[in-house]
Parts: sequence; C-alpha cells; structure tokens
Amino acid sequence: MTPASHSLRLSPADLRLEVPAGMRLQDVLFAQGVEFPCGGRGRCKGCRVKVLRGALPVSPEENHLLTSAERDAGWRLACRHAIAGDLELELAQWEMSVLSDNTAFAFQPREGLGVAIDLGTTTVAAQLLDLRTGNVLGVRTALNAQARHGGDIMSRVEFAMHGGQAELQRLLRGQTCGKGGPL
Ligand code: FES
Repeated sequence: MTPASHSLRLSPADLRLEVPAGMRLQDVLFAQGVEFPCGGRGRCKGCRVKVLRGALPVSPEENHLLTSAERDAGWRLACRHAIAGDLELELAQWEMSVLSDNTAFAFQPREGLGVAIDLGTTTVAAQLLDLRTGNVLGVRTALNAQARHGGDIMSRVEFAMHGGQAELQRLLRGQTCGKGGPL
C-alpha cells in the first residue's frame, strides 16, 4: 500500500517535515520561505535542490538547464517535482548570500548566543550564533508575513502610507519575537 505521507528533511537548516504523498515540492518549499524566481516554470535554475537521500527522476527541463555534472551530483529543480518518496534535500538558496556570507567583519569574542536576522522582501532568515566562535548553530527561514500586503516594496510602502504602518510593524514583530510567527 502506498503511504499517505513521506518524510522530507531539508538542509542546511535541518528541517524535518511530514508531507502528503503527491504534494508539489514547490508548494512545500514555498511555505518554508524558498523563492521560485521564474514562477516555477522550469526556466531559471533558481529553485535548485540537491538530492542527498531518495530519488527525483530527471525532467526534460533539468536535461536542458542543468549540466550533466550537476545532474549526476544530484541537483534538480524543485519546481519540476512532487513528493513520491522519503527525501533529504540540500537547498541552494539556503546556502547563498547572508546564510553563508564569508565577508570578513570585526569580531569580539564574548560569552553567550546571538541572533542575526536578514529581513528580505519575500523571506525572513534568522541565524543563531555562538558569540565565542562566530559559528552558526542553526538557521530558520520563513515567508515574510508582510507579503500579504504586497509582494513588492512599493506595494507595502503604499499600504503603510494609507494607515498600514503599524500593521506591517506588528506582523514583523510577531514573526521575529515568537508572537505567532514561525521563526
Ligand atoms: S523556479 Fe525557476 S526553474 Fe524552478
């Protein structure tokens, strides 16, 4: 009998989910803050994921967009697949920019933990840091809750100018301070 759900593990944030069989990977990952730059049409490579465990068969778009070395290494386009078995995936987006930025910065070791938050138009990412070493101990990402009032900055500025500023602040405060948000 086919199981009704499958396990999905996402790296490098080490997120574990139970996902209904047949659900589009794009829908699962979008809810976790992953962006799909071409709208999931298989044209941009922006939704690349690497299969660490399990299998995703190569689609025609992946044959066209990815090199054979990338395909052999397990890279796939998340927007081209549905959940058909247990999977472990590494997400290219979670490895990029702020999440693995190697830029040097002045660092004074001290006791305790710190949190770095990257506020993006679509995604909010938070890193838990060991302040003695600067090492990242964990990463959480989520959709920016402000997106319900516009997908782009100008829409939100317009919303704020017409009385919505407090609402935008409230949404973000709730998301980053554990008052109803997923971070
Ligand atoms: S979102 Fe563009 S290829 Fe998947």
